[in-house]
Amino acid sequence: MSAYNILLLGSGGRESALAWKLSQSKLCKELFIGPGNAGTSQYGSNINLSVTDFEAIKQVCIDYHIDILFPGGEDSLVAGIWDYFKNDAELKHIIIAGPSKEGAQLEGSKAFSKKFMQRHNIPTAGYAEFTETNFDEGISYLKQHSLPIVLKADGLAAGKGVVIAQSVEEAIEAFTMMIKEAQFGDAGKTVVVEQFLAGVELSVFAFTDGTSYVLLPEAKDYKRIGEGDTGPNTGGMGAISPVPFAAGNFMQKVIDRIVNPTVNGLKAESIIYQGFIFFGLINVSGDPYVIEYNCRMGDPETEAVMPRLENDLVELILKMQQGKLDEVTVKHDSRAAGTVMLVSEGYPGTYPKGKAMSGLDKVEDSILFHAGTTNKDSHIVTNGGRVIAITSYGSNIQDALNKSFESAKHIEYEGKYYRRDIGFEFKN
Ligand code: AMP
Ligand code: GLY
Repeated sequence: MSAYNILLLGSGGRESALAWKLSQSKLCKELFIGPGNAGTSQYGSNINLSVTDFEAIKQVCIDYHIDILFPGGEDSLVAGIWDYFKNDAELKHIIIAGPSKEGAQLEGSKAFSKKFMQRHNIPTAGYAEFTETNFDEGISYLKQHSLPIVLKADGLAAGKGVVIAQSVEEAIEAFTMMIKEAQFGDAGKTVVVEQFLAGVELSVFAFTDGTSYVLLPEAKDYKRIGEGDTGPNTGGMGAISPVPFAAGNFMQKVIDRIVNPTVNGLKAESIIYQGFIFFGLINVSGDPYVIEYNCRMGDPETEAVMPRLENDLVELILKMQQGKLDEVTVKHDSRAAGTVMLVSEGYPGTYPKGKAMSGLDKVEDSILFHAGTTNKDSHIVTNGGRVIAITSYGSNIQDALNKSFESAKHIEYEGKYYRRDIGFEFKN
């Protein structure tokens, strides 16, 4: 059996969970993580890299005889890393677990994804699209819109490009900031204005070879900084898997109305897509709608999903490349997984870095997926807003989360904060 050298791009909790999983595979020869964090070096070799410096990534691939490139986040995919590799004679043999630049537009452009959903009759919030040229029309549109009004910067804005305005005045202000003041740079020069959908969100993950696909365990993420889902949005403060309502009839609707038409739609439009499709869904009175697509796995969802995926991840990637995912049955660990994210004081606003961490070795019943951590003078210190994800298994969601909350108490650094109510809707 041959084995493969793998380069995983990224440095967050998601990449820690992916590195943890990839390193368990017999098909993984050497794993490199670029740039990684203080935790990922347990699973492979960290390499100092910027995920959008394609020239440097190319050199690493050549130097280390990389067979599989796994972009953890969206930045390199939206910037076209797939096309860069496939157009380079020295790189084109490398398997990439991610879509082409065109496919990555599902995440890279809200306007593109909205039109795609419309073309394929995929349920999503009604919307209109505006730029500088029809700015005045946009203002009139906002004035007659029902409240609240959802405004989205078209391009990547690191999760900050969505405003849910409770009044027309607030909506006009946000709209003007995005288009006239370029608040989100070029990303916000086109604005999608959409209908507000009320319901419970969940994240569904398909891994596709372009024709068939498998579904990974689903998850629910907790985006707000404050307990009771209050305060500003973050990258994600915790996750659970499974999601109790993601079963039976509801999941069948997700497959029939959303996943199948998406995979078939990409194929019908000849959009090259081999990789993950993350469906950010909302359950509106039993009917699923798409809030957003992402072209990669979620963070912190991955930290709850990978521990529940029993299949070999490298084998899944090989089946993807061969177009044989229809031969694969995904096996879920029957235990629940609960992830709690420890963050830095001030996050998602400004926060300090370089705070010394201790107590990591006291955690016994959980897996620690490092996110914003680094080594300084042979100590682990904080290096980001989201510092470390704590995942535990349990017989049910609460049991899993209780272990993660217990482990959270052992880890110390100045300004530690975490939500103690992850999974609150599913308390027995
Ligand atoms: P997005 O970046 O598109 O995922 O949006 C960020 C968050 O804003 C989502 O996770 C939702 O909580 C919320 N959101 C986005 N679009 C809508 C919508 N149409 N209705 C209600 N909430 C939304
Ligand atoms: N947790 C949401 C995301 O990864 O976009």
